[in-house]
Amino acid sequence: MDDLLRWREEFPILSRCVYMISNSLGAMPRGVYEKLKEFADLWATEGVVAWEKWVPLVTETGDVLAEILGAPRGTIILHQNVAALLAIVGSALDFSGGKRKIVYTAGEFPSCHYYWKAQERLGAKVEVVPLAKDGVSADMERLLQAIDERTLIVPTSLVLFRSAAIVDAKAIIEKAHRVGAYVLLDAYQATGTIPLDVTKLGVDFVVGGSVKWLCGGPGAGYLYVRPDLISRLEPAACGWFSHRKPFDFSLDAIDYAPSIWRFVGGSPNVPGLYSARSGYEIIRKIGVEKIRAKSKQQIARLVERAREIGLTVNTPTDPEKRGGTITVDFQGSDAACKELIKRKFIVDYRPKAGIRISPHFYNTDEECDAIMDEIKKIRSGK
Ligand SMILES: Cc1ncc(COP(=O)(O)O)c(C=O)c1O
Repeated sequence: MDDLLRWREEFPILSRCVYMISNSLGAMPRGVYEKLKEFADLWATEGVVAWEKWVPLVTETGDVLAEILGAPRGTIILHQNVAALLAIVGSALDFSGGKRKIVYTAGEFPSCHYYWKAQERLGAKVEVVPLAKDGVSADMERLLQAIDERTLIVPTSLVLFRSAAIVDAKAIIEKAHRVGAYVLLDAYQATGTIPLDVTKLGVDFVVGGSVKWLCGGPGAGYLYVRPDLISRLEPAACGWFSHRKPFDFSLDAIDYAPSIWRFVGGSPNVPGLYSARSGYEIIRKIGVEKIRAKSKQQIARLVERAREIGLTVNTPTDPEKRGGTITVDFQGSDAACKELIKRKFIVDYRPKAGIRISPHFYNTDEECDAIMDEIKKIRSGK
């Protein structure tokens, strides 16, 4: 008996459908009802005094994540989403000097590409390295070659969103640090399904969000900054909570908070902080190592079944090089995905990739088999 299955009853949606889309929106833990009620009750009964509990949640929630990510306390803040956090980190960088190159692969999530590319108007020079010949993985040789003395930052996903290919972050960090460049890791597709120790890795920044494998819902993006970097960076995208003494309401030039708060900016998204908590606590309790071990087994099972029924698998073949998703493709996969959803198998489709299937710790092996049986039926017109 798989002991992780005892968590199933904590996730109401699992009794309604085969939910295999945790790479996109993780199932909602039932505890979220209580957490959001707690938020509403505080607002209703304490009014403005509630801020005294709400504001500290920015770093208190970050500290729960810190345990999952191997970060020291006080190095993670929560914000609305990755796009906003990239803008904050980017605003602390100088693209006007000789060191202005930004290097990443063609596998990045589009909003990351849009953001960095838009910094060219401030002087940045973006180099996008094409993917490897397999079309699904990073071309590590070319990527490492592109990181040179002119490179300022290497923003890279740890797991590519289309193919779930794992990127060799350690090699990137080694090379980047050798030439004096920063590395910003987008761990969105990894956190909660792949063990990560940001301290051991020595990475400079980590961004991500809570909607996927963390089962934390929307509006809770996170930013980790390496402790020794925090006080050396001055984000131009700042707000009153970035100030050392926000409640002085000073109109002099900003005196930055000496802590991670300098990256916070304006008022936090409080309901997002409440809804994120239950998922984090469950993941922390289970431990990501255990989740990864189960995920590897289930993905292997899905890969085997996909091959048996003649699907193209657009995910790396080596289990050590793929995250928690298997992407399968075939003629008509876009329409088949819509049909699967109608039949209550919840997955998604991405162009140039196929149907993404993502079991999490709460899925059964029988569900993995059932989804492949259903794809087989749909393909044969049943
Ligand atoms: C790797 C990756 N980065 C970023 C995002 C989204 O970022 P944001 O929080 O800005 O919506 C996603 C998916 O939604 C993603 O898969």
